[in-house]
Amino acid sequence: MSPAENSSACPHCGGSGWKRADRGGLQSVSRCECVANGRATRLLEVAHIPPLYQNASFENFSTQPENPVANRILQTAVTVANSYARQYPFGTKKQGLMLIGDPGTGKTHLAVAVMKRLIARGFECVFFDYQNLLERIRSSYDQASGAAQREAYQSALDCEVLVLDDLGAHRVTDWVEDTVTSLITYRYNQNKPLITTANLRDPEAGDAPLASGGGADMASRYYLTERIGSRARSRLFEMCRTISTRGVEDYRVRKNR
Ligand SMILES: Nc1ncnc2c1ncn2[C@@H]1O[C@H](COP(=O)(O)OP(=O)(O)OP(=O)(O)O)[C@@H](O)[C@H]1O
Ligand SMILES: [Mg+2]
Ligand SMILES: [Zn+2]
Repeated sequence: MSPAENSSACPHCGGSGWKRADRGGLQSVSRCECVANGRATRLLEVAHIPPLYQNASFENFSTQPENPVANRILQTAVTVANSYARQYPFGTKKQGLMLIGDPGTGKTHLAVAVMKRLIARGFECVFFDYQNLLERIRSSYDQASGAAQREAYQSALDCEVLVLDDLGAHRVTDWVEDTVTSLITYRYNQNKPLITTANLRDPEAGDAPLASGGGADMASRYYLTERIGSRARSRLFEMCRTISTRGVEDYRVRKNR
């Protein structure tokens, strides 16, 4: 048995990647689907999708027909995310996606659903949790343990589609602001897309100002600009289409009722 005929090889092309067809006596050769599928499998392995979101997809993202207001918001979110995932890439403008809204409203779920579609289409996507990425960048300065962490930072800079989850979920310091600004500026200058989720407020995403004194019980208590600085924020809006889930109830709470 030749290596190409072993049991793990593709039954359609025998592992060669090329399919022969005989149409009415005409011989033709075409690329086998297993080439694209194999690439998608490899991309999925290196995408670092967190186990909790391994199954998140458009198929299992529910809208909320019993609540017309929430339902409209969710339907719009799905429509925008879905067409982004189908139509990417877009040339120069607004290559990215920013999902903004309260906790538990499906931002990360949708970001992962988009990632999976893009990966199936052959685009490289890498998921990073914002806090975790900052910690890794910080420890990359340490000579002893730094190499792997430097690699993580390099991947966040250079991967094709960066998914940065929970942007701004870190107490802001000058170092944090400088680091996130340089990451976003680098990707902005290279016209590299960013898909990001944030549990923060921004008037540009349709959020009304916080009522004075009423801040403590609001789910998103901080403004985007307070958490990442105005330069990073400004670039984000230029880079990203925005999806707001504000007005949707926390799914974690809703599910447990
Ligand atoms: N509309 C939905 N349909 C199905 N599952 C949902 C929906 N919204 C959220 N979930 C599920 O609820 C959980 C919380 O959603 P998710 O983590 O996406 O929220 P989030 O907006 O990213 O919240 P946070 O701001 O806390 O990060 C996840 O397990 C997710 O799969
Ligand atoms: Mg999230
Ligand atoms: Zn094949």
